[in-house]
Amino acid sequence: MSMEPAIRIDHVSYSYDSENNSIEDINLTIEDNEFVAIIGQNGAGKSTLLKNLTGLLRPTRGEIYIRGKNARAMSVSVISREIGFVLQNPDRQLFASTVYDEVAYALVNAGMRQEEIENKVRESLESVGLSAAADMFPPALSKGDRAKVVIASVLAMGSKMIILDEPTSGQDYRSCHQIMDIAKNLHRMGRTIVFVTHNMSLVAEYAKRTIVMMQKHVLWDGRVEDVFGCEEELAGTHILPPQIIRLARQLRGEIPLEETVLTVAELGEQLLALKRAAGPGEG
Ligand SMILES: Nc1ncnc2c1ncn2[C@@H]1O[C@H](COP(=O)(O)OP(=O)(O)OP(=O)(O)O)[C@@H](O)[C@H]1O
Ligand SMILES: [Mg+2]
Repeated sequence: MSMEPAIRIDHVSYSYDSENNSIEDINLTIEDNEFVAIIGQNGAGKSTLLKNLTGLLRPTRGEIYIRGKNARAMSVSVISREIGFVLQNPDRQLFASTVYDEVAYALVNAGMRQEEIENKVRESLESVGLSAAADMFPPALSKGDRAKVVIASVLAMGSKMIILDEPTSGQDYRSCHQIMDIAKNLHRMGRTIVFVTHNMSLVAEYAKRTIVMMQKHVLWDGRVEDVFGCEEELAGTHILPPQIIRLARQLRGEIPLEETVLTVAELGEQLLALKRAAGPGEG
C-alpha cells in the first residue's frame, strides 16, 4: 500500500478574476501531526491557499489530494470532516445565540444523537478552556474567547487537521499564547496544525516547519531554525526573524552558542549552561 500524505497540493494556481493569479504553481505536501506556520507579507496568497485547501475556493489549475483522494470530488462539508478551518475573521463563523449551540451546530446538522452531541460539545469546550461559557452569547465574549469558540466548533467535528488563519491577530500577549497553547495541546494529542501568522515570535516558539510565501509563490519551506537562520534570503519578504534569534546570531561570533536558539528560554538556558561550565567565577 502506498502511503499518501495527509495533503498533497499539486501545481495549484488560483485566480479570482481570470486575469491574475493570486497563488501560482504551489506544490506542497503536509504529513500527519506536523505543526506548520505559513508566513509572508500581506497579499502574498496565504489565505487564498488555505481557502483552496478547504474547498471554499477550487483551484483554477492543479489538484489537491486529501489522503490520496482528489478534493474536487469532495464537497466542502466532506472536506470539513478532514480539515477544520478557522477563518481569518472568526466572527464570520459565529451565528448561534449561545456558545453551546454554536459548537453543537454542525453536530446537530450531521444528525448525531443528543447524548453524543453533549459529550462532544463538553469535551471541545473543555479543551479550549471555555466550559463555564456554554450559556453565553458569543458576541459578548472577548475577541480571544470568540476565536476559541470557533476552534471548539471545529474540534467538535473531530477533524485530524486544523487550519487557523491568523488566529491571534489583534489579540494581547496572554490571549495569543492561550490560543497557541491550545494548538500545541492538540498537536501533542496527534492533530496536524497549520496556522498563518504575522507574529514571528509565535512561529519560533510553536511551529516546527515554516512555509514562506512571497508574491503568489512558496519562496521557502523548511525547519523553523533554518528559515530564520538566513536573514539575507528573508530580506525580500520583509520578514524579520524574532529579536532573540537575531541576538543569538550576533552573540554566536563571541560565544559558542548552539545553532538552534529559537526562544528567550532557550537562549537563557544556553547562556546559563556556558556560565556553569566555566566554573565558579565571579558569579
Ligand atoms: N475576494 C477576492 N477578490 C479578488 N482578489 C482577492 C480576493 N481576496 C484576495 N484577493 C487578492 O489575492 C491576493 C492574495 O490575497 P490573500 O488574501 O490570499 O493574501 P494573504 O497572504 O492572506 O494576505 P494577508 O496577510 O493580508 O491576510 C491579493 O493580491 C489580494 O488582493
Ligand atoms: Mg490572509
